[in-house]
This record gives sequence, C-alpha cells and structure tokens, in this order.
Amino acid sequence: MRPMLTTPAYGGDWSPEQWDSATIDADITLMKEAGVNLVSLGIFSWAFLEPSEGSYDFDWLEDIITRLHAAGIATDLATGTASPPAWMAATYPHSLPVDARGVRLGFGSRQQYCPSSAVFRGAAQRLTRAIAQRFADHPGVVMWHVSNEYGCHVSECFCHECVEAFRTWLRDTYASIDALNAAWGTAFWSQRYTAFDQVGAPGAMPTFHNPAHALDWRRFSNDNLLSLMIAERDIIRQYSSAPVTTNFMGDFPRLDYQKWAGEVDIISDDSYPDPADPAAAHSVAWAGDIMRGLANGSSWLLMEQSPSAVQWRQRNSPKRPGQYLLWTLGRMAHGADGILQFQWRQSLRGSETFHAAMVPHSGKDSRTWGEVVRTGEVLSRLAPVMDAPYRADVAVVMDWQSMWAFNAAIGPVEGTHFERPRAWHRSLWEAGIAVDVVGDHADLSAYRVIIVAEHFIDSPDLTRRLQAAVEAGAQVLIEGPTAVVDRNLGAVPDGYLGSARQLLGVRVIEHAALTGAVESFSAASNGRGDAVNRLSRAVGTPAACEWIGVEAHADALRRATDRLGTPAPDLRAGQWAEEIAPAAHSWHDSGVEVVATFDGRGGGADLANMAAITRRSYAGGGNAWYVACDLDALSRRALLDVVGAYGRVRPVVDGLPDGVEAQRRGNFLFLLNHSDRAVELTGIVGRDLVDGAQCHGHVMLAPRCGMVVDQR
Ligand code: GAL
Repeated sequence: MRPMLTTPAYGGDWSPEQWDSATIDADITLMKEAGVNLVSLGIFSWAFLEPSEGSYDFDWLEDIITRLHAAGIATDLATGTASPPAWMAATYPHSLPVDARGVRLGFGSRQQYCPSSAVFRGAAQRLTRAIAQRFADHPGVVMWHVSNEYGCHVSECFCHECVEAFRTWLRDTYASIDALNAAWGTAFWSQRYTAFDQVGAPGAMPTFHNPAHALDWRRFSNDNLLSLMIAERDIIRQYSSAPVTTNFMGDFPRLDYQKWAGEVDIISDDSYPDPADPAAAHSVAWAGDIMRGLANGSSWLLMEQSPSAVQWRQRNSPKRPGQYLLWTLGRMAHGADGILQFQWRQSLRGSETFHAAMVPHSGKDSRTWGEVVRTGEVLSRLAPVMDAPYRADVAVVMDWQSMWAFNAAIGPVEGTHFERPRAWHRSLWEAGIAVDVVGDHADLSAYRVIIVAEHFIDSPDLTRRLQAAVEAGAQVLIEGPTAVVDRNLGAVPDGYLGSARQLLGVRVIEHAALTGAVESFSAASNGRGDAVNRLSRAVGTPAACEWIGVEAHADALRRATDRLGTPAPDLRAGQWAEEIAPAAHSWHDSGVEVVATFDGRGGGADLANMAAITRRSYAGGGNAWYVACDLDALSRRALLDVVGAYGRVRPVVDGLPDGVEAQRRGNFLFLLNHSDRAVELTGIVGRDLVDGAQCHGHVMLAPRCGMVVDQR
C-alpha cells in the first residue's frame, strides 16, 4: 500500500519547531521548488504538543499542516510519541528505561521510555488519541507515522514493570511453570523454577545465561514494543481510514519485522548505507528486497535516507556526486514507490547538526540542493512505475527467530547478524539475478531456486514447503548451520538438520568450526620458542587456519570453477564446516550425489574426503542441495552458476559491464551505473523516464547515473 499521491512520494522529516516563521515560509517555497509532495511532521514534537502534562497545544501544528496543504504538500503525521518530554522524566522517573546492568537511563537524548511503563503508555495513547481526533479529517493528512524506529536505541528494558510484563508473557506462552522448565531445560545448572514470579530478566549474570531464557526475553521485548505500536494504530483507526506505518530499519536485529509487517498498512524503511563502502549499493538492494518481502511483494516507502553524509559514524563521508539520485532509483528499482529523507532542513544545533539534509547548512548554493531538486524532478516522472510488480525466480529465506536463536545459543560459534542469507543475496545481486527475500512463512511455490542459510531453528513447516517445492521441480539450497535446534533452543538429536534430513538425504554428525589464528605459545614468542618447545611444536592445529579447501567433483561444478578461473583449491570455505553423513546407509541409498568434498587443505585436515556439498535429485528436475560449510564469494558464485542452470535462472540483463545493476519492475527496466566510468550499453530500447530520451539500442550511461527504461 502507499499514500494516495499521484507521483512517488518525495520529501522528508521536518521539525519546524526548530525554525522561525520566516524560515518556515521560505521552506514551503523551497519544498515546491524541490518537488516535495509529502512531509513527515511531529515525530519528535511531544514537548511542543503537550508542553505540560495533559495540556495539549496543536494549533501550531495545524497551522503548518494547513500551510503545507495549501501549497499542495501532504502530511505524514506522526503520533509524536517517539520521545517523551522532560516533564515525564522529572515527574515519573520510573518511566525511564533501565539497562541490563540495572542502570536507569537519563533524560536528554531520545527514546527514553520504558516500553512497559504504565505512565508512558497512558500518556502516549492519550496524545495519539488527541492528535487523531484533531487531525483525522484534515485534508492534508494522508498517512500516519506511529512513533519512530521502535527499538532503535532502547529495544529492551530491565525494570520491575518489564519483569512483571515478561512474567505475564511467559504465563500466556507456557501456561504452567513445568512447561517453562521443560522448554528452557532448567534441569541443568539447578535453574528450576517453582513459580513464574521467580523468573527475572536475563540481565547481568555471573556467566552464561540460559539460552532459552534469553531467546524468550528477546521475543517478549519484541512483542512488548509491537504492542505499543498496535495500541496507537488502533486508536488512529477509530478516527481515520488513512494508512498507518511505522518506520523499519532494514534487517534491524532487535525486532522481528515478520511479526510487525502484517500490523501496518504501509511498509516503510529507513536506510543509510555508507558511501565509503564499495558494496553500499548492495545494502540498498538488500534492504529493498527485505522490505518488498515484508510487503508481500507489493511496493513500500523509503521513509528515511540521507541526501549526503550522516553524522553518527566515526567518520562520515558525503554521498558522491550523483549517488543520491542513483540510490533513490535503486530503492525504486527494488520496489519503493516513494522516497523520503532525514531531514528537510539541516539543524543548526542539537545532536544531528552535522547530519546532511535536503536544505544543507550552506543553503541552495550547494551540490546537495542541486541533486535534491534534480531527484524531485526525476521522481515526478516515475509515476508510471508505481505499483509495477517486481518478479524474481529466486528466494532467499530470512528468519529473525533463527537469527535470535543462533545468537542466544552458547556455541557452536558466535551467532551472526544474517551474515549468510545476506552473503547469498549478495552473490545473486552481483550476478545480476533478481531475488526476493522472504520470511519463513512465505509461499515458496513460484520460485525456481530457494536458498535457506543459517536457519538455526528447525521448522518442520518450512521443510514441508521446501519439500513440496523440490518435488515440483525447484532447486532448494540449504546451508548449515541449519535446523540445529528446536524453537526453544533444544538441540535436535540424531544428527542435526532435523526435519530437513529426509529432504536432503543428509544428517549432520558434528560441527567443525575453525577458530582462526590461535595465540599459540610459539606464535606468542614469535617462533623463537619453537627451538625448545619439543612437544607442542609437533602438534597440528588445523582449526587455527583461516580457510578450508573444498574440491569440486560434479562435472558441472568443475566446469563452473574453471569458467570463473578459480585458483586452487577449486572452492573454499571460511570458518565453518560440518561433518555430514548420509541420512540412510550410504549416499547412494540416500539418493544423494556428493558434489564436492573437503580436500583436506587448510582447516579441513580432519574432514579430508568427506562430503562438503551434496545434491539429492528428485524426479521432475528438482534438487535439494546441502552445503556443509560457509563457501566464500567465488565458491558461492560457482555453485550458484550450477544451481541456477538447473533452475533455468537468468540475470535480469545478460552481459552488462562491470558496475551496472539491472532490475525490472513490470515493463520498466532500471539500469544503474554504480561505477566511476561511463559505460556503453547495447540492446536497450524504450524511453528513459529519467531524461525523457528515446533509446534505440545503444546508450551511454555516465558514472553514478541511472536510467528507467519504459518498455511498455
Ligand atoms: C534515524 C532516525 C532519524 C534520524 C536519522 C539520522 O535513525 O529515525 O530521526 O536520527 O536516523 O540518520
């Protein structure tokens, strides 16, 4: 869903509280000049909306919404509840959040509320109601913005009220304390509880927490914040039928957006890739594909990006010339139907003084302003693209619950932040292949290739759908560690892979993680000790290696590695490997072909000749592939070339020059030149909506420029 606008939304957060009346007037004129049609108002305005407890002042806000409306600019109106005012902290110190060490956080920054605080909840909901009542019928208000980036700074609070709320959540989840004891495995380490009231928050502890306790705490903290959003949304809905959103933050690790997505009318995202990162355009693609997945394939809204530098990294580099429009087109290419920024006018004071804005400190006489105006012009020509569908034959599954479980587990290695799903996504993106990022419960039936990586929790339901897909002819590629635990972090017995064993014909016998360089005695002594360390100098430590050699066996994979010119070993993994075995007596009996083995080089010495990649083939052309190690980029690409060929997956456009990304939405072809060189493209036919030029086959694309070719 998107706001009711006839051209893609364009604008940003505006905090007019910071400015005098003349600046506000000038700003509205400038907004027209920049082609702004939507402004987010009131996000951090609580102190002005309710200057003292219970007394509201909305006249100033109404005046601004009305002035914007008169200028043809719509408002995305916030509930204003993202940061409670000073009076709340002073009068009700218990409304402030408490960290894991029991320290109560102070006033003077933002998001300083305890999500369970009855005081905060009451005040936030009263404010939301008052705003919704007052503005629901204002013709300028086209959408609602609940709070802001839930959990961004405070995603959990360890105060007494939160512990009480956690206990209630546990009672609702487990019904009996015995069920909780069983699920958490409290028989170990004398952790048994005899009443829910004994359960606390997993704050500071002598050593390892109980993993299931930590995981349930994360789930509770997610649900607790989500309940705040739902409460405000429900109040708005009593007064208004305009769509409601709250801004997400891409693959933000602390909230399970799969659970949030169904609760909002518009999926919106805040995204700030680092211009200093050569793979930043991949971050644009990754976040965009996640958002499209959360929107079930429909369009979404970019709620925030920076027109140039941010101010919150250690060093903040500006966007390069052209990059603002290029990434804007990138978001549209991945399914956005509107582009907003943080923020409209750059603050002169306060915590975000040095964060770029659409109107920079230097004013109109700046590159940023020129690019802001140009981007507005271009977006106004992209109306036909709105709602055009993005279609992909490949899906990467992304599951917050698994990521949390992997991180809550103590071992087998430190959990990651979607490292492997993201790595596979990156490989597909670099290869020019369109890909959807989908949740665990998505309909997988239309995909020709489905990739599941680091899905730590065994999900029989997901396995069933993967099985159905493979039987219908799809390629399913699963990478470990997957299906290692149940949803309460209980280890899957009899060889990991749980419910996926049959599908793959594989069981996992043992995890074999490398440790990377170990500070050994001889290393610590710069080798001098070797002369005398007669015992330890003879000891092999493959686990201290940084990589694991893998040898391709299947002809197709050998050919793929040859084509890519991979230096020996053919394939390589990083720090993760598994000893795997056939699910039945032999690989043959399991219907499995060993596609690659560990070649014994590097950290894989003890795994030499054991299977590293397997394929179980199904009648009808489907295959279930298992990858028992974390293949590096080159190896992922080689394997994807093979799996993609089985799946008949093609790049969006073949043979593009380096640095050029192609994406398609309906009949619109996006071509984005991320490189520093002008590139020559051939076979491009249609009208470029960016410049209005007709393409007759041969086009030149300048550095960091994009085009949107209308091929209807
Ligand atoms: C977001 C936030 C904005 C602004 C922006 C700066 O996290 O929602 O209010 O702080 O970051 O990059």
